[in-house]
Amino acid sequence: MTILVTGGAGFIGSNFIFYLLDQYRDCRVVCVDSLTYAGNLSTLDPVMRDPRFRFVRASITDSAAIEWVFEEETPDIVVNFAAESHVDRSIENPSVFLETNILGTQVLMDACRKFGTGRFHQVSTDEVYGDLPLDRTDLFFTEQTPLCASSPYSASKAAADLLILAYYRTFGLPVTISRCSNNYGPFQFPEKLIPLMIINALEDKPLPVYGAGENVRDWLYVEDHCRAIDRIIRDGKVGETYNVGGHNEMKNLDIVKLICKALGKPESLITFVEDRKGHDLRYAIDPAKMQKELGWFPQTQFADGIQQTIQWYFERREWWESIRNGEYQNDYQRMYQNRQEMNQTDGV
Ligand code: NAD
Ligand code: TYD
Repeated sequence: MTILVTGGAGFIGSNFIFYLLDQYRDCRVVCVDSLTYAGNLSTLDPVMRDPRFRFVRASITDSAAIEWVFEEETPDIVVNFAAESHVDRSIENPSVFLETNILGTQVLMDACRKFGTGRFHQVSTDEVYGDLPLDRTDLFFTEQTPLCASSPYSASKAAADLLILAYYRTFGLPVTISRCSNNYGPFQFPEKLIPLMIINALEDKPLPVYGAGENVRDWLYVEDHCRAIDRIIRDGKVGETYNVGGHNEMKNLDIVKLICKALGKPESLITFVEDRKGHDLRYAIDPAKMQKELGWFPQTQFADGIQQTIQWYFERREWWESIRNGEYQNDYQRMYQNRQEMNQTDGV
């Protein structure tokens, strides 16, 4: 079986490739990634010499390149992780989000139609549902929750989801969609909350918390997400959407405090900065369908997963230092210079 994994040089895609090659002896994995700022080829070093693995540098928006890969490899399954994935960047510059996340998905699906691919799986996000109020902890996102995206990022993912379901109905393309909550774990690009706070804390730099840090995210260890996708591509029903999450809701500020504690750093590093525009308040997944239909449950407790993740960033300094020596410094300056520091009371 040949699985084409797009965006495999990024955070979740690389973890998924390691998972597949580890679990299945007879699996061939072809990774297509254009290596944007978020893609890192060194992440894939451990599998580069594996005869079951092939890396192709190409954009999913480039239909000629994608058709060439399909001709060469005739994948049985396509799993699409490739995306622009950072909300703050989508607020700065939406257009590349629409190109990659919507048009790139269309290019991949057209290739699947042309080559008769057995399954197109889209790695979507719970952010397509918008947000939930902080004071209604009885509410959760189900697969029936209407799409109501807040940011250009989540709107582009929601648009792709609609297009995928349209390809299912119109062309009978065998599709599945997973909508997962926030992931954490090894190889996450340090622009996202958890790795950014870990590496800033390791270097005694300010820890920029948006607003009052009251926003809630539902955290899942990346390997549990990989197992969920594997369950869906094997036993999921074509045309169906599956919500993936582990009922692990936490306030941003509590996560940052936990990281300070684990690293023995003072909470005085925490700096409250201007809030994100349109900042979603709370995400919370109801994973009942994954559990009932596919027998999937998260296996990693947050307390263990976050310890392993902090330890990983502590030990793999060379991985994130090489990233930080590139464009990262300029991007970081640009993103955070306009966020004025606020007193905690300003943000409440
Ligand atoms: P990431 O930003 O770490 O990685 C994205 C990868 O896609 C990078 O390797 C990048 O080079 C590649 N890429 C970008 N544009 C491309 C293009 N045009 N052609 C080919 N490759 C391209 O992202 P991630 O956090 O690993 O997220 C992967 C997927 O999972 C995304 O689709 C995202 O929407 C979804 N998702 C992420 C989370 C999360 O918490 N990180 C949660 C739910 C869903
Ligand atoms: P992020 O990791 O960007 O994921 P998402 O916005 O897709 O959920 O952010 C997680 C939460 O952390 C979100 O509420 C925004 C907040 N946040 C900060 O407070 N400071 C930061 O520097 C970053 C990057 C995020």
